[in-house]
Amino acid sequence: MPDRPAPARKSTSRTSAKATQPPRLSVIGTGYLGATHAAAMAALGFQVVGFDTDPTKVAALSLGKVPFYEPGLDELLVEQVESGRLRFTSDVADAVASSDVHFVCVGTPQQATSHAADLSHVEAAVRAVAENLVGDALIVGKSTVPVGTASWLRGLLADAAPAGVRAELVWNPEFLREGKAVQDTLHPDRVVVGGASARAEELLRTVYAQPVAEGAPFISCDLPTAELVKVSANAFLATKISFINAIAGVCEAAGADVTVLADALGHDSRIGRQFLDAGLGFGGGCLPKDIRALMHRAGELGAHHASRLLQQVDEINMGQRERVIAMATEACGGSVLNRRIGVLGAAFKPDTDDVRDSPALNVAAALHLRGAQVTVFDPQASDTARRTFPTLGYAASAEDAVQGTDVVLLLTEWPELVALDAGRLAALTATARVIDARGKLDAQAWRAAGWEFTGLGRIAA
Ligand code: UDX
Repeated sequence: MPDRPAPARKSTSRTSAKATQPPRLSVIGTGYLGATHAAAMAALGFQVVGFDTDPTKVAALSLGKVPFYEPGLDELLVEQVESGRLRFTSDVADAVASSDVHFVCVGTPQQATSHAADLSHVEAAVRAVAENLVGDALIVGKSTVPVGTASWLRGLLADAAPAGVRAELVWNPEFLREGKAVQDTLHPDRVVVGGASARAEELLRTVYAQPVAEGAPFISCDLPTAELVKVSANAFLATKISFINAIAGVCEAAGADVTVLADALGHDSRIGRQFLDAGLGFGGGCLPKDIRALMHRAGELGAHHASRLLQQVDEINMGQRERVIAMATEACGGSVLNRRIGVLGAAFKPDTDDVRDSPALNVAAALHLRGAQVTVFDPQASDTARRTFPTLGYAASAEDAVQGTDVVLLLTEWPELVALDAGRLAALTATARVIDARGKLDAQAWRAAGWEFTGLGRIAA
Protein backbone atom coordinates (compact mmCIF):
# COMPACT_ATOMS: atom_id res chain seq x y z
CA MET A 1 0.00 0.00 0.00
CA PRO A 2 1.47 3.42 -0.86
CA ASP A 3 2.61 5.29 2.19
CA ARG A 4 3.00 8.82 1.23
CA PRO A 5 2.17 11.78 3.42
CA ALA A 6 -0.71 13.92 2.24
CA PRO A 7 0.29 17.28 0.83
CA ALA A 8 0.26 20.13 3.30
CA ARG A 9 -2.54 22.62 2.77
CA LYS A 10 -2.50 26.39 2.80
CA SER A 11 -5.28 28.15 4.62
CA THR A 12 -5.90 31.01 6.93
CA SER A 13 -8.71 29.44 8.99
CA ARG A 14 -8.40 28.72 12.69
CA THR A 15 -8.34 24.92 12.23
CA SER A 16 -5.41 25.29 9.94
CA ALA A 17 -3.63 27.60 12.34
CA LYS A 18 -2.60 24.30 13.90
CA ALA A 19 -1.67 23.72 10.47
CA THR A 20 0.19 23.84 7.47
CA GLN A 21 0.11 20.20 8.60
CA PRO A 22 -2.13 17.63 6.90
CA PRO A 23 -5.54 17.39 8.60
CA ARG A 24 -5.88 14.78 11.33
CA LEU A 25 -8.91 12.56 10.84
CA SER A 26 -11.39 10.86 13.10
CA VAL A 27 -13.79 8.15 11.95
CA ILE A 28 -16.95 7.90 14.03
CA GLY A 29 -18.35 4.36 13.86
CA THR A 30 -16.04 1.49 12.91
CA GLY A 31 -18.39 -1.00 11.25
CA TYR A 32 -17.92 -2.07 7.68
CA LEU A 33 -17.68 1.42 6.25
CA GLY A 34 -15.82 3.05 9.14
CA ALA A 35 -13.16 0.37 9.70
CA THR A 36 -12.35 0.34 5.99
CA HIS A 37 -12.36 4.13 5.70
CA ALA A 38 -10.11 4.52 8.75
CA ALA A 39 -7.55 2.01 7.46
CA ALA A 40 -7.64 3.45 3.94
CA MET A 41 -7.17 7.05 5.13
CA ALA A 42 -4.19 5.95 7.23
CA ALA A 43 -2.81 4.19 4.15
CA LEU A 44 -3.08 7.50 2.31
CA GLY A 45 -0.71 8.93 4.92
CA PHE A 46 -3.07 10.61 7.41
CA GLN A 47 -3.14 10.37 11.18
CA VAL A 48 -6.43 8.61 11.93
CA VAL A 49 -8.35 7.74 15.09
CA GLY A 50 -11.36 5.44 14.84
CA PHE A 51 -14.08 5.77 17.48
CA ASP A 52 -16.74 3.21 18.33
CA THR A 53 -19.12 2.87 21.27
CA ASP A 54 -18.46 -0.90 21.32
CA PRO A 55 -15.28 -1.50 23.40
CA THR A 56 -14.97 -5.10 22.12
CA LYS A 57 -14.79 -3.86 18.55
CA VAL A 58 -12.26 -1.18 19.55
CA ALA A 59 -10.10 -3.78 21.31
CA ALA A 60 -10.16 -6.11 18.28
CA LEU A 61 -9.41 -3.35 15.77
CA SER A 62 -6.58 -2.04 17.98
CA LEU A 63 -4.97 -5.47 17.65
CA GLY A 64 -5.42 -5.29 13.88
CA LYS A 65 -8.32 -7.79 13.90
CA VAL A 66 -11.31 -7.15 11.61
CA PRO A 67 -14.54 -8.46 13.19
CA PHE A 68 -15.93 -9.52 9.77
CA TYR A 69 -14.57 -11.10 6.57
CA GLU A 70 -13.36 -8.57 4.03
CA PRO A 71 -10.55 -9.53 1.64
CA GLY A 72 -7.41 -7.43 2.15
CA LEU A 73 -8.69 -5.43 5.13
CA ASP A 74 -6.90 -7.47 7.82
CA GLU A 75 -3.53 -6.87 6.20
CA LEU A 76 -4.18 -3.17 5.68
CA LEU A 77 -5.37 -2.72 9.25
CA VAL A 78 -2.35 -4.46 10.78
CA GLU A 79 0.00 -2.46 8.56
CA GLN A 80 -1.60 0.87 9.47
CA VAL A 81 -1.91 0.18 13.22
CA GLU A 82 1.75 -0.86 13.26
CA SER A 83 2.73 2.28 11.34
CA GLY A 84 1.41 4.36 14.27
CA ARG A 85 -0.89 6.36 11.98
CA LEU A 86 -4.04 4.45 12.98
CA ARG A 87 -5.50 3.88 16.42
CA PHE A 88 -8.94 3.18 17.87
CA THR A 89 -10.71 4.44 20.97
CA SER A 90 -14.06 4.20 22.72
CA ASP A 91 -13.55 7.69 24.17
CA VAL A 92 -15.31 10.12 21.86
CA ALA A 93 -13.78 13.19 23.55
CA ASP A 94 -10.32 11.80 22.79
CA ALA A 95 -11.21 11.09 19.12
CA VAL A 96 -12.72 14.53 18.60
CA ALA A 97 -10.00 16.49 20.41
CA SER A 98 -7.25 14.83 18.42
CA SER A 99 -8.73 15.45 14.95
CA ASP A 100 -9.63 18.28 12.55
CA VAL A 101 -11.97 16.39 10.21
CA HIS A 102 -14.57 13.94 11.54
CA PHE A 103 -16.05 11.30 9.21
CA VAL A 104 -19.43 10.00 10.35
CA CYS A 105 -19.62 6.35 9.26
CA VAL A 106 -22.37 4.89 11.46
CA GLY A 107 -25.17 2.67 10.18
CA THR A 108 -28.63 3.74 9.03
CA PRO A 109 -30.63 0.49 9.21
CA GLN A 110 -34.25 0.16 8.19
CA GLN A 111 -36.64 1.06 11.02
CA ALA A 112 -38.31 -1.94 12.61
CA THR A 113 -41.80 -0.63 11.96
CA SER A 114 -41.49 1.15 8.60
CA HIS A 115 -39.45 1.44 5.41
CA ALA A 116 -37.82 4.64 6.64
CA ALA A 117 -34.16 4.75 7.68
CA ASP A 118 -33.34 4.74 11.38
CA LEU A 119 -31.30 7.91 11.88
CA SER A 120 -30.71 7.53 15.60
CA HIS A 121 -27.05 6.49 15.18
CA VAL A 122 -26.27 9.38 12.84
CA GLU A 123 -27.97 11.81 15.19
CA ALA A 124 -26.05 10.44 18.20
CA ALA A 125 -22.75 10.55 16.30
CA VAL A 126 -23.11 14.17 15.16
CA ARG A 127 -24.29 15.22 18.61
CA ALA A 128 -21.34 13.46 20.28
CA VAL A 129 -18.84 15.14 17.95
CA ALA A 130 -20.52 18.53 18.34
CA GLU A 131 -20.57 18.42 22.14
CA ASN A 132 -16.91 17.46 22.33
CA LEU A 133 -15.47 19.98 19.89
CA VAL A 134 -12.57 21.98 21.27
CA GLY A 135 -11.82 23.98 18.12
CA ASP A 136 -13.00 24.61 14.58
CA ALA A 137 -13.84 21.43 12.74
CA LEU A 138 -15.27 19.84 9.63
CA ILE A 139 -17.84 17.08 10.05
CA VAL A 140 -18.19 14.87 6.98
CA GLY A 141 -21.19 12.57 6.74
CA LYS A 142 -20.49 9.35 4.83
CA SER A 143 -23.46 7.24 5.99
CA THR A 144 -26.29 6.64 3.53
CA VAL A 145 -29.14 8.94 4.57
CA PRO A 146 -32.50 10.08 3.23
CA VAL A 147 -32.36 13.38 1.35
CA GLY A 148 -32.84 16.26 3.80
CA THR A 149 -30.99 14.59 6.69
CA ALA A 150 -27.79 16.64 6.39
CA SER A 151 -29.66 19.93 6.51
CA TRP A 152 -31.44 18.77 9.71
CA LEU A 153 -28.09 17.70 11.17
CA ARG A 154 -26.67 21.16 10.49
CA GLY A 155 -29.32 22.58 12.82
CA LEU A 156 -28.44 20.00 15.47
CA LEU A 157 -24.74 20.83 15.10
CA ALA A 158 -25.37 24.56 15.47
CA ASP A 159 -27.32 23.92 18.69
CA ALA A 160 -24.92 21.41 20.22
CA ALA A 161 -21.49 22.86 19.35
CA PRO A 162 -19.81 24.99 22.04
CA ALA A 163 -20.06 28.76 21.56
CA GLY A 164 -17.20 30.25 19.58
CA VAL A 165 -16.39 27.05 17.70
CA ARG A 166 -16.81 27.11 13.91
CA ALA A 167 -18.11 23.72 12.83
CA GLU A 168 -19.18 22.89 9.30
CA LEU A 169 -21.09 19.81 8.15
CA VAL A 170 -20.90 18.45 4.60
CA TRP A 171 -21.95 15.18 2.94
CA ASN A 172 -19.54 12.85 1.17
CA PRO A 173 -21.37 9.58 0.40
CA GLU A 174 -19.50 6.29 0.27
CA PHE A 175 -20.05 3.80 -2.56
CA LEU A 176 -17.95 0.86 -1.37
CA ARG A 177 -19.01 -2.69 -2.12
CA GLU A 178 -18.55 -5.48 0.39
CA GLY A 179 -15.85 -7.86 -0.81
CA LYS A 180 -14.15 -4.97 -2.64
CA ALA A 181 -14.25 -2.42 0.17
CA VAL A 182 -10.51 -1.67 0.30
CA GLN A 183 -10.17 -1.25 -3.44
CA ASP A 184 -13.32 0.91 -3.64
CA THR A 185 -12.17 3.18 -0.80
CA LEU A 186 -8.62 3.68 -2.04
CA HIS A 187 -9.61 3.95 -5.70
CA PRO A 188 -13.17 5.31 -5.82
CA ASP A 189 -14.99 5.82 -9.13
CA ARG A 190 -15.82 9.36 -7.98
CA VAL A 191 -15.67 11.61 -4.92
CA VAL A 192 -18.94 13.46 -4.26
CA VAL A 193 -19.00 16.31 -1.76
CA GLY A 194 -22.20 18.17 -0.92
CA GLY A 195 -22.62 21.57 0.70
CA ALA A 196 -18.92 22.40 1.15
CA SER A 197 -17.58 25.92 1.68
CA ALA A 198 -14.31 26.81 -0.06
CA ARG A 199 -12.44 25.85 3.12
CA ALA A 200 -14.20 22.49 3.47
CA GLU A 201 -13.64 21.68 -0.19
CA GLU A 202 -9.96 22.51 0.16
CA LEU A 203 -9.68 20.16 3.15
CA LEU A 204 -11.44 17.31 1.35
CA ARG A 205 -9.38 17.84 -1.79
CA THR A 206 -6.35 17.37 0.48
CA VAL A 207 -7.82 14.19 1.98
CA TYR A 208 -8.69 12.73 -1.43
CA ALA A 209 -5.65 14.12 -3.27
CA GLN A 210 -4.36 10.68 -4.22
CA PRO A 211 -7.55 9.20 -5.74
CA VAL A 212 -8.20 12.50 -7.53
CA ALA A 213 -4.63 12.47 -8.90
CA GLU A 214 -5.34 8.94 -10.16
CA GLY A 215 -8.31 10.31 -12.12
CA ALA A 216 -11.32 10.05 -9.80
CA PRO A 217 -13.64 12.98 -10.58
CA PHE A 218 -14.24 15.33 -7.61
CA ILE A 219 -17.87 16.42 -7.79
CA SER A 220 -18.81 19.35 -5.59
CA CYS A 221 -22.56 19.93 -5.31
CA ASP A 222 -25.30 20.93 -2.89
CA LEU A 223 -26.27 18.83 0.13
CA PRO A 224 -29.47 17.20 -1.21
CA THR A 225 -27.81 16.23 -4.49
CA ALA A 226 -24.94 14.54 -2.65
CA GLU A 227 -27.37 12.63 -0.43
CA LEU A 228 -29.42 11.55 -3.45
CA VAL A 229 -26.46 10.46 -5.60
CA LYS A 230 -25.82 7.58 -3.23
CA VAL A 231 -29.35 6.25 -2.92
CA SER A 232 -29.99 6.76 -6.65
CA ALA A 233 -26.88 4.71 -7.50
CA ASN A 234 -28.15 1.85 -5.34
CA ALA A 235 -31.69 2.23 -6.72
CA PHE A 236 -30.35 2.04 -10.27
CA LEU A 237 -28.33 -1.11 -9.55
CA ALA A 238 -31.36 -2.70 -7.88
CA THR A 239 -33.55 -1.74 -10.84
CA LYS A 240 -31.08 -3.27 -13.28
CA ILE A 241 -31.13 -6.57 -11.37
CA SER A 242 -34.93 -6.64 -11.15
CA PHE A 243 -35.15 -5.76 -14.85
CA ILE A 244 -33.10 -8.80 -15.85
CA ASN A 245 -35.02 -10.98 -13.42
CA ALA A 246 -38.31 -9.85 -14.99
CA ILE A 247 -36.86 -10.64 -18.43
CA ALA A 248 -35.75 -14.04 -17.07
CA GLY A 249 -39.45 -14.76 -16.49
CA VAL A 250 -40.15 -13.97 -20.14
CA CYS A 251 -37.21 -16.17 -21.19
CA GLU A 252 -38.64 -19.12 -19.25
CA ALA A 253 -42.06 -18.65 -20.78
CA ALA A 254 -40.62 -18.30 -24.29
CA GLY A 255 -37.92 -20.99 -24.11
CA ALA A 256 -35.04 -18.49 -24.24
CA ASP A 257 -31.83 -18.39 -22.18
CA VAL A 258 -31.34 -15.29 -20.03
CA THR A 259 -27.60 -15.86 -19.53
CA VAL A 260 -26.94 -15.67 -23.29
CA LEU A 261 -29.39 -12.76 -23.58
CA ALA A 262 -27.58 -10.84 -20.78
CA ASP A 263 -24.21 -11.32 -22.50
CA ALA A 264 -25.66 -10.04 -25.75
CA LEU A 265 -27.27 -7.03 -24.03
CA GLY A 266 -24.04 -6.30 -22.17
CA HIS A 267 -22.11 -5.74 -25.39
CA ASP A 268 -24.16 -2.59 -25.90
CA SER A 269 -21.91 0.00 -24.28
CA ARG A 270 -25.00 2.01 -23.24
CA ILE A 271 -26.20 -0.96 -21.18
CA GLY A 272 -23.06 -2.78 -19.95
CA ARG A 273 -22.88 -6.37 -18.67
CA GLN A 274 -22.56 -5.66 -14.92
CA PHE A 275 -25.60 -6.20 -12.69
CA LEU A 276 -27.34 -8.22 -15.40
CA ASP A 277 -26.93 -11.59 -13.67
CA ALA A 278 -30.44 -12.99 -13.35
CA GLY A 279 -31.15 -15.22 -10.38
CA LEU A 280 -32.09 -15.13 -6.75
CA GLY A 281 -31.84 -11.33 -6.67
CA PHE A 282 -30.22 -8.76 -4.46
CA GLY A 283 -29.84 -8.68 -0.69
CA GLY A 284 -27.29 -7.50 1.85
CA GLY A 285 -27.09 -4.60 4.24
CA CYS A 286 -27.51 -1.88 1.60
CA LEU A 287 -29.57 -2.35 -1.56
CA PRO A 288 -32.82 -3.61 0.05
CA LYS A 289 -32.93 -1.06 2.87
CA ASP A 290 -31.71 1.80 0.69
CA ILE A 291 -34.37 1.32 -2.00
CA ARG A 292 -37.03 1.06 0.70
CA ALA A 293 -35.80 4.22 2.40
CA LEU A 294 -35.82 6.03 -0.97
CA MET A 295 -39.30 4.67 -1.72
CA HIS A 296 -40.46 6.05 1.63
CA ARG A 297 -38.72 9.42 1.27
CA ALA A 298 -39.85 9.89 -2.35
CA GLY A 299 -43.42 9.23 -1.18
CA GLU A 300 -43.07 11.82 1.60
CA LEU A 301 -41.84 14.33 -0.97
CA GLY A 302 -44.73 13.55 -3.34
CA ALA A 303 -42.42 12.00 -5.97
CA HIS A 304 -44.75 9.05 -6.48
CA HIS A 305 -43.32 7.76 -9.78
CA ALA A 306 -40.05 6.91 -8.02
CA SER A 307 -41.91 5.24 -5.14
CA ARG A 308 -43.98 3.10 -7.51
CA LEU A 309 -40.98 2.13 -9.61
CA LEU A 310 -38.99 1.05 -6.54
CA GLN A 311 -41.99 -0.82 -5.15
CA GLN A 312 -42.00 -2.91 -8.35
CA VAL A 313 -38.23 -3.43 -8.13
CA ASP A 314 -38.61 -4.68 -4.55
CA GLU A 315 -41.56 -6.94 -5.43
CA ILE A 316 -39.75 -8.53 -8.37
CA ASN A 317 -36.70 -9.06 -6.18
CA MET A 318 -38.57 -10.69 -3.30
CA GLY A 319 -40.55 -12.76 -5.83
CA GLN A 320 -37.32 -14.45 -6.95
CA ARG A 321 -36.97 -16.00 -3.50
CA GLU A 322 -40.52 -17.37 -3.73
CA ARG A 323 -39.75 -18.66 -7.20
CA VAL A 324 -36.73 -20.67 -6.00
CA ILE A 325 -38.70 -22.06 -3.04
CA ALA A 326 -41.41 -23.15 -5.50
CA MET A 327 -38.81 -24.75 -7.81
CA ALA A 328 -37.29 -26.67 -4.89
CA THR A 329 -40.75 -27.81 -3.80
CA GLU A 330 -41.55 -29.00 -7.31
CA ALA A 331 -38.21 -30.82 -7.52
CA CYS A 332 -39.18 -32.65 -4.31
CA GLY A 333 -42.47 -33.78 -5.83
CA GLY A 334 -44.79 -31.09 -4.46
CA SER A 335 -43.75 -30.99 -0.79
CA VAL A 336 -40.41 -30.51 0.93
CA LEU A 337 -41.59 -32.15 4.15
CA ASN A 338 -38.84 -34.49 5.41
CA ARG A 339 -36.95 -34.08 2.13
CA ARG A 340 -33.21 -33.52 2.30
CA ILE A 341 -32.01 -30.33 0.68
CA GLY A 342 -28.37 -29.34 0.22
CA VAL A 343 -27.81 -25.57 0.08
CA LEU A 344 -24.60 -24.22 -1.41
CA GLY A 345 -24.06 -20.64 -0.24
CA ALA A 346 -25.48 -18.59 2.64
CA ALA A 347 -23.84 -15.16 2.18
CA PHE A 348 -25.80 -12.49 0.29
CA LYS A 349 -23.07 -12.59 -2.36
CA PRO A 350 -19.59 -14.13 -2.72
CA ASP A 351 -16.50 -12.74 -0.94
CA THR A 352 -18.32 -11.80 2.23
CA ASP A 353 -19.56 -13.48 5.41
CA ASP A 354 -22.46 -11.04 5.57
CA VAL A 355 -25.88 -12.70 5.76
CA ARG A 356 -27.95 -9.56 6.35
CA ASP A 357 -31.08 -9.93 4.22
CA SER A 358 -29.34 -12.73 2.37
CA PRO A 359 -31.59 -14.26 -0.31
CA ALA A 360 -29.68 -17.54 0.10
CA LEU A 361 -30.22 -17.83 3.83
CA ASN A 362 -33.79 -16.64 3.46
CA VAL A 363 -34.59 -19.47 1.00
CA ALA A 364 -32.76 -22.06 3.15
CA ALA A 365 -34.71 -20.98 6.24
CA ALA A 366 -38.05 -20.92 4.42
CA LEU A 367 -37.53 -24.51 3.21
CA HIS A 368 -36.52 -25.57 6.72
CA LEU A 369 -39.67 -23.97 8.13
CA ARG A 370 -41.71 -26.00 5.61
CA GLY A 371 -40.31 -29.20 7.06
CA ALA A 372 -37.28 -29.89 4.89
CA GLN A 373 -33.98 -31.12 6.36
CA VAL A 374 -31.71 -28.37 5.10
CA THR A 375 -27.91 -28.59 5.22
CA VAL A 376 -25.98 -25.44 4.30
CA PHE A 377 -22.39 -25.01 3.23
CA ASP A 378 -20.76 -21.61 2.75
CA PRO A 379 -16.98 -21.07 2.44
CA GLN A 380 -17.02 -18.06 4.84
CA ALA A 381 -20.52 -17.36 6.13
CA SER A 382 -21.39 -20.53 8.06
CA ASP A 383 -20.72 -18.90 11.45
CA THR A 384 -22.70 -15.72 10.74
CA ALA A 385 -25.49 -17.83 9.20
CA ARG A 386 -25.55 -20.15 12.23
CA ARG A 387 -25.91 -17.17 14.54
CA THR A 388 -28.91 -15.97 12.52
CA PHE A 389 -30.53 -19.39 11.90
CA PRO A 390 -29.12 -21.88 14.42
CA THR A 391 -31.73 -24.52 13.56
CA LEU A 392 -30.44 -25.17 10.03
CA GLY A 393 -27.83 -27.89 9.50
CA TYR A 394 -24.34 -26.65 8.66
CA ALA A 395 -21.76 -28.75 6.81
CA ALA A 396 -18.00 -28.37 6.75
CA SER A 397 -17.82 -28.95 3.00
CA ALA A 398 -19.96 -28.86 -0.13
CA GLU A 399 -19.62 -32.66 -0.33
CA ASP A 400 -21.06 -33.05 3.18
CA ALA A 401 -23.90 -30.65 2.39
CA VAL A 402 -25.11 -32.63 -0.64
CA GLN A 403 -24.75 -36.07 0.99
CA GLY A 404 -27.99 -38.09 0.48
CA THR A 405 -30.00 -35.07 -0.72
CA ASP A 406 -33.11 -34.99 -2.88
CA VAL A 407 -32.18 -31.63 -4.38
CA VAL A 408 -29.16 -29.32 -4.32
CA LEU A 409 -29.53 -25.53 -4.57
CA LEU A 410 -26.73 -23.17 -5.64
CA LEU A 411 -27.74 -19.96 -3.87
CA THR A 412 -24.48 -17.92 -3.67
CA GLU A 413 -22.06 -18.03 -6.57
CA TRP A 414 -18.75 -18.47 -4.70
CA PRO A 415 -16.15 -19.38 -7.34
CA GLU A 416 -15.25 -22.62 -5.48
CA LEU A 417 -18.92 -23.68 -5.54
CA VAL A 418 -19.29 -22.88 -9.23
CA ALA A 419 -16.13 -24.91 -9.91
CA LEU A 420 -17.30 -28.04 -8.02
CA ASP A 421 -16.87 -31.36 -9.81
CA ALA A 422 -20.41 -32.19 -10.98
CA GLY A 423 -19.64 -35.89 -11.50
CA ARG A 424 -18.14 -36.45 -8.04
CA LEU A 425 -21.01 -34.56 -6.39
CA ALA A 426 -23.75 -36.45 -8.28
CA ALA A 427 -22.57 -39.74 -6.78
CA LEU A 428 -23.06 -38.38 -3.24
CA THR A 429 -26.72 -37.36 -3.61
CA ALA A 430 -29.84 -39.54 -3.31
CA THR A 431 -31.19 -37.97 -6.50
CA ALA A 432 -28.93 -35.80 -8.62
CA ARG A 433 -31.18 -32.76 -9.01
CA VAL A 434 -29.74 -29.25 -8.97
CA ILE A 435 -31.29 -25.80 -9.10
CA ASP A 436 -28.83 -23.11 -10.16
CA ALA A 437 -30.37 -19.98 -8.66
CA ARG A 438 -27.44 -17.78 -9.74
CA GLY A 439 -27.13 -18.69 -13.41
CA LYS A 440 -23.46 -19.60 -13.00
CA LEU A 441 -23.26 -23.37 -13.49
CA ASP A 442 -22.44 -24.92 -16.85
CA ALA A 443 -25.82 -26.57 -17.53
CA GLN A 444 -24.43 -28.81 -20.26
CA ALA A 445 -21.59 -30.13 -18.09
CA TRP A 446 -23.89 -30.79 -15.13
CA ARG A 447 -26.45 -32.56 -17.33
CA ALA A 448 -23.66 -34.62 -18.89
CA ALA A 449 -22.59 -35.62 -15.35
CA GLY A 450 -26.07 -37.03 -14.75
CA TRP A 451 -27.82 -34.12 -13.06
CA GLU A 452 -31.39 -33.03 -13.62
CA PHE A 453 -30.59 -29.33 -14.04
CA THR A 454 -32.95 -26.37 -13.62
CA GLY A 455 -32.07 -22.68 -13.66
CA LEU A 456 -33.92 -19.39 -13.50
CA GLY A 457 -34.53 -18.09 -17.02
CA ARG A 458 -32.70 -21.05 -18.55
CA ILE A 459 -33.93 -23.47 -21.20
CA ALA A 460 -35.38 -26.64 -19.67
CA ALA A 461 -33.65 -29.90 -20.69
C1 UDX B 1 -23.97 -2.15 -2.87
C2 UDX B 1 -23.46 -1.11 -3.90
O1 UDX B 1 -22.91 -1.80 -5.03
C3 UDX B 1 -22.42 -0.21 -3.25
O2 UDX B 1 -22.01 0.80 -4.18
C4 UDX B 1 -23.04 0.45 -2.03
O3 UDX B 1 -22.10 1.29 -1.39
C5 UDX B 1 -23.56 -0.61 -1.06
O4 UDX B 1 -24.48 -1.47 -1.74
P1 UDX B 1 -23.01 -4.42 -1.87
O5 UDX B 1 -24.25 -4.50 -1.04
O6 UDX B 1 -21.71 -4.71 -1.22
O7 UDX B 1 -22.86 -2.97 -2.52
O8 UDX B 1 -23.21 -5.49 -3.04
P2 UDX B 1 -23.34 -5.50 -4.62
O9 UDX B 1 -22.10 -6.02 -5.20
O10 UDX B 1 -23.84 -4.21 -5.15
O11 UDX B 1 -24.47 -6.61 -4.78
C6 UDX B 1 -25.76 -6.39 -4.21
C7 UDX B 1 -26.66 -7.58 -4.43
O12 UDX B 1 -27.03 -7.70 -5.78
C8 UDX B 1 -26.04 -8.93 -4.04
O13 UDX B 1 -27.01 -9.67 -3.31
C9 UDX B 1 -25.77 -9.60 -5.37
O14 UDX B 1 -25.83 -11.01 -5.30
C10 UDX B 1 -26.90 -9.03 -6.22
N1 UDX B 1 -26.61 -9.03 -7.66
C11 UDX B 1 -25.58 -8.30 -8.14
C12 UDX B 1 -27.43 -9.74 -8.52
O15 UDX B 1 -28.39 -10.39 -8.12
N2 UDX B 1 -27.17 -9.70 -9.87
C13 UDX B 1 -26.13 -8.99 -10.38
O16 UDX B 1 -25.96 -9.00 -11.61
C14 UDX B 1 -25.31 -8.26 -9.49
